[in-house]
Amino acid sequence: MTDQPPAQYAGPKRVLSGVQPSGDLHLGNYLGALVKFAKLQHETPTLIFVADMHAITVWQDPKKLKTQVREIAAAYLATGLDPKIATIFPQSAVPEHAELAWVLNCVARLGWLDRMTQFKDKAGKHKERESVGLYTYPVLQAADILAYKATHVPVGDDQKQHLELTRDIAQKFNNDFDAAGFFPLPEALTQGPGARVMSLRDGSAKMSKSDPSDNSRINLTDDADAIASKIRKAKTDPEPLPETMEALAERPEAKNLVAIYAALAGRPEAEVLGEFAGQGFGAFKPKLADLAVSVMGPIGGEMRRLLADPAEIDRILGDGAARAREIAAPTMAEVKRLVGYWAG
Ligand code: ADP
Ligand code: TRP
Repeated sequence: MTDQPPAQYAGPKRVLSGVQPSGDLHLGNYLGALVKFAKLQHETPTLIFVADMHAITVWQDPKKLKTQVREIAAAYLATGLDPKIATIFPQSAVPEHAELAWVLNCVARLGWLDRMTQFKDKAGKHKERESVGLYTYPVLQAADILAYKATHVPVGDDQKQHLELTRDIAQKFNNDFDAAGFFPLPEALTQGPGARVMSLRDGSAKMSKSDPSDNSRINLTDDADAIASKIRKAKTDPEPLPETMEALAERPEAKNLVAIYAALAGRPEAEVLGEFAGQGFGAFKPKLADLAVSVMGPIGGEMRRLLADPAEIDRILGDGAARAREIAAPTMAEVKRLVGYWAG
């Protein structure tokens, strides 16, 4: 029959991602996410939002939240997102995220959410004290993506499981509501040298905003002295750098610094090792610090410049929200019809 929707999603390619406004952005966010956003906008229609609804799954000071949203927006702009090309907006300015999340909460199964490792990591031993929102966080994430029928989602490695869940939810929605091909099954774009940047203090833990030690991460707003000092203090071992990547396998801290150098320089790790093999960290660290300062320094400066004019950031976010709604509203209208809601 020709009037049946295609079984496979046949809509256009669309990129979407977001970052929570819940702390300073760091090198891991930059290499794992922001760098990719700026690149992808030139290839595919791209929507990038600030996830303030996700942020309140843990306590946020209401007096600071708007400023935090502007800071993430400034980071997007300072790392090369162009509001004339990409759609940049705050999640809470588009009510369809919350509306779709409710429907998807009724599609997702408890058993699926029980497997989410990010919840287990964040909740620790006292999950009964966490918000219900933290538990159902990945369903809101699925709604963020599916409201725009996004097909590609650039994120760091740690988000892979949430993307798998999004696909499961999309597939079940399509099946349950007899709507084959309605939602795409979106793909995580995690490839790239900075997909998993590790802590500077512990090569087995991911660099994270929530690490209590500020020395574990390089923040986008760190000045040259702070960057150099954190790299100088970074945990390493007494051995010189080896010739091959295989020889780094058992040296997580050394491996991480080489990977950071390669990602910042846009060069393969093997090539970096070729240059530094045989040298100790006394020689390597100052080179890495110079490189990090040359890449990150201007970003921090640009963020400060942008944040001096909050009205301009708000204008960009308002404009982005209006454009985002134009895409999300028709999706939501169709979802309501498929579900059989009273209100359409
Ligand atoms: P954090 O884990 O520091 O709280 P977020 O969860 O807000 O950071 O992550 C925002 C984006 O940055 C996501 O796409 C996430 O996958 C990516 N990201 C976070 N930490 C890292 C890291 N250490 N290495 C690579 N990407 C990361
Ligand atoms: N959960 C993501 C993170 O912690 C942020 C996020 C929320 C997101 N919604 C999203 C990322 C939708 C990609 C697509 O980083």
